[in-house]
Amino acid sequence: MAIKETGIIMNGVTGRMGTNQHLVRSIVAIREQGGVQLASGDVIMPNPILVGRNENKLSALAEQYNIPKWSTNLDECLANPDYQIYFDSQTTDRRAKDVRKAIRAGKHIYCEKPTANSLEEAMQLAKLAKEAGVKNGVVQDKLFLPGLLKLKRLIDSGFFGEILSVRMEFGYWVFEGDWQEAQRPSWNYREEDGGGIIVDMFAHWRYVLDNLFGEVRAVSCLGRTHIPERIDENGNRYKCTADDAAYATFELENGIVVQANSSWAVRVDRDDLLTIQVDGTEGSAVAGLRDCKTQHRVNTPKPVWNPDIPNTIRFQEQWETVPDNQTFENGFKIQWELFLKHIVNDEPFPWDLLEGAKGTQLSELALASWKERRWVDVPELSYKELTVQ
Ligand SMILES: NC(=O)c1ccc[n+]([C@@H]2O[C@H](COP(=O)([O-])OP(=O)(O)OC[C@H]3O[C@@H](n4cnc5c(N)ncnc54)[C@H](O)[C@@H]3O)[C@@H](O)[C@H]2O)c1
Repeated sequence: MAIKETGIIMNGVTGRMGTNQHLVRSIVAIREQGGVQLASGDVIMPNPILVGRNENKLSALAEQYNIPKWSTNLDECLANPDYQIYFDSQTTDRRAKDVRKAIRAGKHIYCEKPTANSLEEAMQLAKLAKEAGVKNGVVQDKLFLPGLLKLKRLIDSGFFGEILSVRMEFGYWVFEGDWQEAQRPSWNYREEDGGGIIVDMFAHWRYVLDNLFGEVRAVSCLGRTHIPERIDENGNRYKCTADDAAYATFELENGIVVQANSSWAVRVDRDDLLTIQVDGTEGSAVAGLRDCKTQHRVNTPKPVWNPDIPNTIRFQEQWETVPDNQTFENGFKIQWELFLKHIVNDEPFPWDLLEGAKGTQLSELALASWKERRWVDVPELSYKELTVQ
C-alpha cells in the first residue's frame, strides 16, 4: 500500500464556506479517516496549506485543526511543486484572477461556484485550463444532498412516469443586521462586490436541473431588492445594490416546466430551507435537504373545490417517507474525494469549469430577462467553443 501525498493550496479558507465545508467537514475529515482509499489499496492523503491575508486567523485555524502549514503569500505557494492542486473559496469577484495565476503555474483547479462574475470570464477560465492541460472541477454540492440523492433514486426507478413540472422553493429570512446579526456576509447584498441571489443561487439551480431533470433551455426571471438597506459586519449601514429575491420560470429541453422562488426575504413555512416538488403522471415527490416524501397515483386523494365547507382532507399526512437505505456523507466531502481520485487516479469527474460556466450563463441570462422583461433562450455551451485557434 502506497500513500499518495497530495498538496492542496486552500485560498479563502478563513471564510464561511472555506472553513466549515471545505476545511473542517472535507479535508480535515478525510485526513482524520486516514485519507481516500483507492481500489488498488493505495491511499490519497491531502496535505493542505492554508492561504489568506490574515496571519492571526490562519495560524489559529491551522493550530485548531492540526494543519502544519499556512501562508499569506499565494505566489510562493503556486511556485512550490509540492502542491498539485489550487483550491479557491474566496469571494466570487476575486476568484478568476487567482485561478488564472494557478493555471499558469500548472496547478489542477478546484473551486467554489460561481467560477467568475461573467460568462465570458468563466469560459476563459475553462479554456485556459483546457489549453494548459490541467484537470479542473467546480463545487456542485447540492447534487450530493441526501434529499436530492433520494430524488435521483426515484427518477432512476421510473417512479414519476412522465415528469410534468418541478417547483423549487428556496430561502429564509436573512436578518438585516441591526437588532440581530445577519447570517450571511454583507458582500452578498452588494452587486459591486459580486453579490446577488441570482448570481449565487442560479449557479446551483443550473447543475441541479441539468443533472436531475434535463438541460435548461429558456429562462424568465423577475428579481427584486426587497430590503434596501442592511448593517454590515462593522456595524455600518450600507445600501443593498444587489437582488435579494428572484422569481423565475425555466423551460427544460424535454418540455418540463420548472418554477423557482429564491429569496433571502421570506419566512419559512415548509419542511426545509429548500424544497423541490416534482409532479409526474405516475406519482409526485417533495425533497428537502435530507428527506424526501412521495405520493403515488394510487394514493392520491380526490379533493373537490368547495370553500363553503371545512376542508376534510389532511393533505400533508398522505405522503410516504423515502427511506435512507444508505449512509449519507457530507456532500462537499464526497465531491472532494471524487476530485482527489480524479487527480491522483484519473477517475472520471464530470463537474468541470465548463459545467461551472453554465451556472454563470444561467445567472447572466436570468438578469437579462429581468432587465429586459422577457423570456431568454439559453444556448448550448460546449467544448467546441473552447477549441484553441
Ligand atoms: N457551494 C455553496 O453552497 C456555497 C454557499 C455559499 C457561498 N458559496 C460561494 O463561496 C464563496 C465564498 O463565500 P463565503 O460565504 O464563504 O464568503 P466569506 O465572505 O465568508 O469568505 C470569503 C473569503 O474570501 C476572502 N477574501 C475576501 N476579500 C478578500 C480580499 N480583499 N483579499 C483576500 N481575500 C479576501 C476572505 O478572507 C474569506 O476567506 C463565494 O464565491 C460564494 O459564492 C458557495
